Amino acid sequence: MPIVKATEETIAVAAKLLREGALVAFPTETVYGLGGDATNGRAVAAIFATKGRPQFNPLIVHVPDAAHAEAHAELTPLARRLADAFWPGPLTLVLTRRDGSPLSDLVSAGLDSVAIRVPDHPVALALLRATQRPLAAPSANRSGRLSPTRAAHVYADFGEVIALILDGGPTAHGLESTVIDARGDEPVLLRPGAVPAETIEAVLGQPLRRAEASPDAPTSPGQLASHYAPRAHLRLDAKTAQPGEALLAFGPEAPADGKRTINLSPTGDLIEAAANLFAALRALDDEHVATIAVMPVPDHGLGEAINDRLRRAAAPRGSSK
Ligand code: TXA
Ligand code: MG
Repeated sequence: MPIVKATEETIAVAAKLLREGALVAFPTETVYGLGGDATNGRAVAAIFATKGRPQFNPLIVHVPDAAHAEAHAELTPLARRLADAFWPGPLTLVLTRRDGSPLSDLVSAGLDSVAIRVPDHPVALALLRATQRPLAAPSANRSGRLSPTRAAHVYADFGEVIALILDGGPTAHGLESTVIDARGDEPVLLRPGAVPAETIEAVLGQPLRRAEASPDAPTSPGQLASHYAPRAHLRLDAKTAQPGEALLAFGPEAPADGKRTINLSPTGDLIEAAANLFAALRALDDEHVATIAVMPVPDHGLGEAINDRLRRAAAPRGSSK
């Protein structure tokens, strides 16, 4: 069993494995990441292969602080303001790669940009410091499947394939980082995530432009229509479950939890709902129903990211290339 509790000793073992080019799954404040040395092309390639991820999907590079980000990318004045306000934390910045950065080209899928973040998690930060390498880490799930919010979810997708899974308990946010293109003066929201867009707009005193989602020419490949997919079909905007369906509920009006009903938040709290989202979808998917009925979730705050994930999970299969 590759799952070990994250301690000083197991983090040192993980760092050694990473420096040798192996992959290690580790907790962040958003979801568990499948980490590899971002300067080692073979390790990065192993991430794509292990996930079964389309090659054109660039990966997020994790660093311990903004100074390390600076070594790999150009921080515009806008990026600096965002880093000051939100790092460490669940905000990823897409930046122009610096010439001479040792990052593998594969990590940004050949683009001249790179996505970087400083995670706000003691295990992730300790691992980055012990490894002394930037770590490429997409969510530690097989491509197109749900993002893992617990070590056991990683094991469920990969079994013994990953050398080591550092267990840091359930993740705090349960939703991936918000991705912002900060290369120019005008911030562009590429992926809604754990930091609500409104929070970023309030800090900047400036609206975020929403990138057009186009499956054919995605600005950010995470925008591919079908990216987060349970096995079951999702029926959105449901008031209640039909016979044979499972129910992903939300709010105080919903029926009580049962074998095939999970309420994301009985009090209607979007933060709680985000933290429960992937685990709830997984648990309902394990009931082997053909369809999961999904009650509406309000579209403000974290609801925007939750609804984004739900729409992707509901999109027709095969649109993720
Ligand atoms: O919360 C998170 O961000 C998690 C944890 C493990 O840190 N990581 C994660 O990574 O979600 P990943 O690789 O699954 O998501 C990468 C996202 C995708 O939407 C991808 O298209 C976008 O970032 N991205 C990466 N590099 C990019 C680039 N150069 N330009 C535009 N988008 C980029
Ligand atoms: Mg993912």
